[in-house]
Amino acid sequence: MKDLNHLQKEAQNAIQFTKTQHELNEVKALYLGKKSALNQIMATMKDLSIEDRKALGQEINQFKVQIEEWVAGQRDKLVERAIQSQLQAEAIDVTLPGKAITQGKLHILTRTQQEIEDIFVGMGYRVVEGPEVELDLYNFEMLNLPVGHPAREMQDSFYINPETLLRTHTSPVQVRTLLENKNEPIKIICPGKVYRRDDDDATHSHQFSQIEGLVVGPHITMSDLKGTLSTLSKKLFGPNREIRFRPSFFPFTEPSVEVDVSCFKCGGKGCNLCKQTGWIEILGAGMVHPNVLRMAGYDSDHLRGFAFGMGIERITLLKYGIDDIRHFYQNDIRFLKQL
Ligand code: DAH
Repeated sequence: MKDLNHLQKEAQNAIQFTKTQHELNEVKALYLGKKSALNQIMATMKDLSIEDRKALGQEINQFKVQIEEWVAGQRDKLVERAIQSQLQAEAIDVTLPGKAITQGKLHILTRTQQEIEDIFVGMGYRVVEGPEVELDLYNFEMLNLPVGHPAREMQDSFYINPETLLRTHTSPVQVRTLLENKNEPIKIICPGKVYRRDDDDATHSHQFSQIEGLVVGPHITMSDLKGTLSTLSKKLFGPNREIRFRPSFFPFTEPSVEVDVSCFKCGGKGCNLCKQTGWIEILGAGMVHPNVLRMAGYDSDHLRGFAFGMGIERITLLKYGIDDIRHFYQNDIRFLKQL
């Protein structure tokens, strides 16, 4: 039978080499449990004299207290060690290079649209929108383009049924706004998508976007139109830009004009961008045809208006020197990143 001193040394050793709580519990059971050597010693007590029994009892108690103390100490150490190793495993290495988060941005067409909206909002315009599936009545008829009018040819469209189509321009929003405002003055722009049966090539697309403008009031004249578009061109293309009006035809305006801006690449001397003319066409405009006002219930003897319509793609192509309209729709990141 091992004596208690020997047993104590052995236990101390075993306890301090345990690596887990589980191991520690096993060691504790080994020295204090039912099957322990201690228990065997205790079983011999009944055969001892009273004095010896008392002395051994004290020794056993001390032994137990000592083992419990070491076990508790070791348990604290193991807990501390476990925390440390978990901390180490979860440590963040601040010297590792980070993952860059790439920031997206608005599409260039959206940015051009917003830039143009900002310019007009700064001049007191409201921004309104209309539906892309539109009535033939508003898209053509009430814009002075009755059924059979030859100008409809230029804007053949995608019909949903004989009365409904994908709008070919943003001009029907003029009609809708006139009908809503009942002979009251109007100052609006209308951005949005439009559709035409068309070739898809470097300068044409079956779907594109426009911004329409409409101003109606008692004293609106063509010089208001010119001043407005001159401000627009300078803000969009630079402070030295001039504009010029060329006579044109639109069924919903009379007189009608095409508006050119002096070439912002060569300053008007002539270059490949302006095809040596010094001028670049940017939009169509005119004084609202009295028929259009009248059909929408406006008093065309006392109210007049001007209107204009521009292609957002065209303005963007020109402004950034882009050579193919299809770049806008293909979402090629190499193109989009350049702008
Ligand atoms: N709606 C015309 C088109 O798509 C553009 C246009 C021209 C709009 C003259 C107007 C305007 O408001 O006055 O070709």
